[in-house]
Amino acid sequence: METKTGPVVKTQVITVDRETPELYKIRIAAQVIREGGLVAFPTETVYGLGANTFDVRAVLRIFQAKNRPYDNPLIVHVSEKDAVYDLAREIPDSTEVLTKRFWPGPLTLLLKKAPHVPRPENIDEITVRMPDHNVALALIAESGVPISAPSANISGGVSPTTAQHVYQDLAGKIEVLLDGGPCDVGVESTVLDLTGEVPTILRPGGITLEDLRAVLGNVEVHPVAAAAAKTEAEARAPGMKYKHYSPHAEVIVVEGQVGPMVEKINQLLNQKIRQGLKVGVMATEETAHCYNQGLIKVVGSRRNLGTVARNLFDVLRAFDEQGVDIIIAEGVVTAEIGLAIMNRLRKSAGFNIVRV
Ligand code: TXA
Ligand code: MG
Repeated sequence: METKTGPVVKTQVITVDRETPELYKIRIAAQVIREGGLVAFPTETVYGLGANTFDVRAVLRIFQAKNRPYDNPLIVHVSEKDAVYDLAREIPDSTEVLTKRFWPGPLTLLLKKAPHVPRPENIDEITVRMPDHNVALALIAESGVPISAPSANISGGVSPTTAQHVYQDLAGKIEVLLDGGPCDVGVESTVLDLTGEVPTILRPGGITLEDLRAVLGNVEVHPVAAAAAKTEAEARAPGMKYKHYSPHAEVIVVEGQVGPMVEKINQLLNQKIRQGLKVGVMATEETAHCYNQGLIKVVGSRRNLGTVARNLFDVLRAFDEQGVDIIIAEGVVTAEIGLAIMNRLRKSAGFNIVRV
């Protein structure tokens, strides 16, 4: 049977060992990739929805399954650093430096595309990344082709950090789901544009601006990447212009010094609860005790923002499962991984930001 979201298929869930993936299981998934099917797999950032980069029909099925706009390009995943030289052209010297230092890892490089690489998205550029996850690396290596993969969620929704999240969104639309447990980083890779004069972050992620500056010196952040407000700046990465990371509930982000922020959230809580709404608060270990009504969830610790990144998408999804009408989310500082966290939160709120 064929629907608007592609063929209806039986989704086989295969649990794999994340450190030492069982080869016979990886081979089942690799076979599906080679035959033009779709496989969801864990990476260190979020789960990806993969197809053979050289099979345009298979790649188009990804767009169908996710309901993704066709002009929003996919990242090509490789299992060896040198593969970037087969996929791109006019490669700057910084590529070598960056892959040596950060691959495998959550850094995606935007380069000019090599002529033989098909791109249904109809663009002359390519984004390449080597994930730091044994299941992803084994799948790519065993498939024998680079794997194009966006995050394995319905377009516009919250990215998946567990196999359960993927199953909720994509069961019946993909052939295989490799379950390698929860993802470590929790937010997506950093997208770095290397085609211009100065390397520019298009999407902040697992490798931070500070990490990149330490290696390259001069690095810029595209105005849309900070997502501090809705901006008219040209969206360099096509994905930047679309709605992102949105749970079903409305999201409000409150940003500022912790004291006034907590005060403001309590005020909003009162107001919304009096209106009869079911309200969730995404709080931190340090602040959760400051609220005495609503549904309070601890996302992580302000002293270790990596924990906030890791749990962010899971907490947003959990609020939806519990049917809250509004999620009030605490902001965090935008240094290091905080920049990626705030980019996701501000977008999930549709720029509904309260600054105190
Ligand atoms: O961590 C990650 O990057 C995950 C895992 C699965 O690897 N992937 C991921 O893919 O987040 P996706 O498709 O959800 O987000 C990729 C972002 C989009 O904003 C897209 O527009 C941008 O990267 N992008 C990809 N290829 C591009 C290209 N050739 N030119 C400009 N932007 C590109
Ligand atoms: Mg995505």
